[in-house]
Order: sequence, then structure tokens, then C-alpha cells
Amino acid sequence: MRKIVVAIDGFSSTGKSTIAKELAKTLNYIYVDTGAMYRAVTYYALKNGLITDEELNKPSLIESLDKIHISFKYNSEKEFSEVYLNGENIEDQIRTLEVSRYVSPVATISEVRKKLVQQQQLMGKEKGIVMDGRDIGTVVFPDAELKIFMTASAETRAKRRFKELLERGHNLSYEEVLENVTTRDKIDSSREDSPLIKAKGAFEIDNSFLAIEEQVETLLKLVDRAIKKGPIIK
Ligand code: DC
Repeated sequence: MRKIVVAIDGFSSTGKSTIAKELAKTLNYIYVDTGAMYRAVTYYALKNGLITDEELNKPSLIESLDKIHISFKYNSEKEFSEVYLNGENIEDQIRTLEVSRYVSPVATISEVRKKLVQQQQLMGKEKGIVMDGRDIGTVVFPDAELKIFMTASAETRAKRRFKELLERGHNLSYEEVLENVTTRDKIDSSREDSPLIKAKGAFEIDNSFLAIEEQVETLLKLVDRAIKKGPIIK
């Protein structure tokens, strides 16, 4: 059967990754979490003293880009690919609120985006991929056969993220998480390079009140249609 590219974009904590992972598993496609790649660069910056006194040293980070190697390795127990920075598994380290605080400023840097976008385009060359992020349908794969734009209210998203962080043992308040979610929305949607916008031809799904199974079911129908029909022109 013809394989396609599924591009999923949307605001932070819309549950994109959960849905994308499920979809990829069902279709036997590769899943790539591009947010994890921006988080990996941010983690590198934090670890290497490129963020001090809440200040990001952009020129030093740009200079260090050649030393940052990001890869993914499939974990058969967890049933998804974990992210590695220079050979070290950093899947847990990149999910902290500290990384979340600095990742949006890091993602505004064009040199960072150029490097990661190139790698993402290579990963999708053979199709059969579900990729989620902020610019997948607009910049990385503007010709993707299926584009999805996921939304949910900031409060719904902050509640989900708060629960997830608590479960991971982080000690923080709901207000801090809400503040992080809304600040990231603002930076991600207003940055100059590749702002988060709904791509042309994208299907919008507000999942505030949708169960995971319902969303996957909807997406599977759209995938089926896209495979049969080719690119969807709206
Ligand atoms: O999906 P996430 O919350 O893990 O993404 C973390 C940040 O990375 C997000 O605030 C914006 C940035 N990002 C981006 O600019 N482009 C992407 N394709 C993916 C993420």
C-alpha cells in the first residue's frame, strides 16, 4: 500500500505526541517527535553553560551546533523512539519544566531550525512517517499528503501537562504550568522564523473533549482517504 507523510502541528500539550505515536503504531509508520529535538538542543545549552542568569547565549549556541548530534532509537518496551544527544539517552531529562522554559527561545534561532529541519526532511524521505511539531505542514513537509492542526484550550492543556509532570515526580504548581503553556504559545506563534500557524490544507481538530481513541479513529479515516486520493487540496 502507498505510504504517506502525516504532518501534525499544534500548540504545546495538545496531546499531539500521544495521538501521533498511536497512529504510527497502528499504521506501522515511523514516529518522530520534533519537539524532542528542540528540547535536546535546549538541554545541551543548559548543560554546557550557555544559559546563565536566565539569559541564553545565542552566538555560543550557534557556534556549538556542529557538536550537537541528535538521534532516535526505538525502545521496544515503551513502543516508541527515544531521543539521544551525542549518544546519551535524554528522554527523561528533556521533559523538565526548566527545559520547557527555555525551549521556545531556543526554537526562535534560525540556525537551530535550519539544522533540525534538514535532519527531519531526511528522516521523512522514504515516507511512511508521522511527524509532530509546529512547522511540519508549513516548512518541513509542505507537500505532506495529510496535515493536521491540533488545538485545545490553554486550561485543558495546562491541566494535562500538570498531571503528567506530577506523575513524573515533579514538584510544581498548576499556575506555573499554565504560565509556561501560555508563554510558549505566544513565542511559538509570533516568532519570525516558521511561526506556528495552521498549514494550508490542514484539518483542524480541537481535542478538548475528545478521547484518544476517537481522535485516532478520525485520523485513521483521514489517512485512508489521503492514501486513496493523494494530496488533499482544500
Ligand atoms: O512539542 P513540544 O512541546 O515538546 O515542543 C517544545 C518546543 O519546541 C515548542 O515550544 C516549540 C518548539 N518546536 C518548534 O519550534 N518546532 C517544532 N517543529 C517542534 C517544536
